[in-house]
Amino acid sequence: MWPAFTILHEGDFQMPLAIQIQQPGGAEQLQAVDVTVGEPGPGEIRIRHRACGLNFIDVYHRTGLYPLPLPATLGMEAAGVVEAVGERVDHLRPGDRAAYTSQPPGAYSEVRVMPARNVVRLPDGIDDETAAAMMLKGLTVQYLLRKTHPPGGLQAGDFVLFHAAAGGVGLIACQWARAMGLQLIGTAGSDEKCQLALEHGATHVVNYAKENVVDRVKAITGGQKVKVVYDGVGRDTWEASLDCLQPLGLMVSYGNASGPVPPVNLATLSAKGSLYVTRPTIFTHLASRESTQAMADDLFEMVAGGKVKIRIDQRYPLREAAQAHRDLEARKTTGSSVLLP
Ligand SMILES: NC(=O)c1ccc[n+]([C@@H]2O[C@H](COP(=O)([O-])OP(=O)(O)OC[C@H]3O[C@@H](n4cnc5c(N)ncnc54)[C@H](OP(=O)(O)O)[C@@H]3O)[C@@H](O)[C@H]2O)c1
Repeated sequence: MWPAFTILHEGDFQMPLAIQIQQPGGAEQLQAVDVTVGEPGPGEIRIRHRACGLNFIDVYHRTGLYPLPLPATLGMEAAGVVEAVGERVDHLRPGDRAAYTSQPPGAYSEVRVMPARNVVRLPDGIDDETAAAMMLKGLTVQYLLRKTHPPGGLQAGDFVLFHAAAGGVGLIACQWARAMGLQLIGTAGSDEKCQLALEHGATHVVNYAKENVVDRVKAITGGQKVKVVYDGVGRDTWEASLDCLQPLGLMVSYGNASGPVPPVNLATLSAKGSLYVTRPTIFTHLASRESTQAMADDLFEMVAGGKVKIRIDQRYPLREAAQAHRDLEARKTTGSSVLLP
């Protein structure tokens, strides 16, 4: 166990900046404010960010789909340097390079105090921007592809359907699925995005802006359809996703980029072949420090070993978080995006 102490840096005497919302709403609600950051309490650290990740959950927080106590600093993912550690934190020291995806929100900031449980030390081979771009998205792919399986599991050669395959989570999933020997059918909203998914390991792609997903999945799989659908799009893809599943297949509804899925009539699941449905969140999987470290070790190995490359296609100054949100919601982004303090 390490006592609470602090490294002072040049610039510490200015008020640090954070991007907050005072009320839910559009991207214009994201405002830069000066904040006061104190010392970490028991189980906490203070971390100075070098890069912060952009995620669709930040949009849900901003719009109020997932309500937050207000005012709120947004952001669920970042990398930086640990400045101070509180009591009962024994896995981090001041000066460590570290990264996280963690509750509560607050990553859109230059420096913050936060719970240490989901913060992990970074290996030398993983730079700050890469880490900030992959902790939430890569650990999500880890629990989806490694742990969120149909009865009987997933074997090399199995077909899975993955929506929004050219997005942040999507491009990591394409590569991870290839490494597992899965046949990942990726959907995306343009031919360019479909091409990107193919280049990252999708074995087949469907442009769902102009092609019928169910017909294409049946054709690709010789009528067998898929064992699992990983669906982060939500409302717009729900019905088609169920129709792409084999009997006893698993529907993994893990996001709402197009809006939340409306209430479900359970009888539909029996009519379509005794389907299984789960609505997971990464934070169930990150409930303990041990599970967080194990998942992160798996991700670090995939990235350091070159099986998964983290593609950062958009970089914004932290102050321009509103523009980053506009681009993400307008489906203009591919791969990961980072905000730079
Ligand atoms: N449950 C969890 O544990 C968990 C964890 C992380 C992420 N997620 C979810 O995973 C999904 C992907 O997250 P991400 O941060 O990597 O985002 P992203 O995939 O980079 O961006 C979202 C993508 O969704 C597609 N999309 C389809 N309909 C859309 C619409 N009406 N508005 C906006 N986008 C639409 C767009 O791709 P096309 O243009 O190709 O359609 C867009 O680029 C999100 O739903 C997110 O909430 C869930």
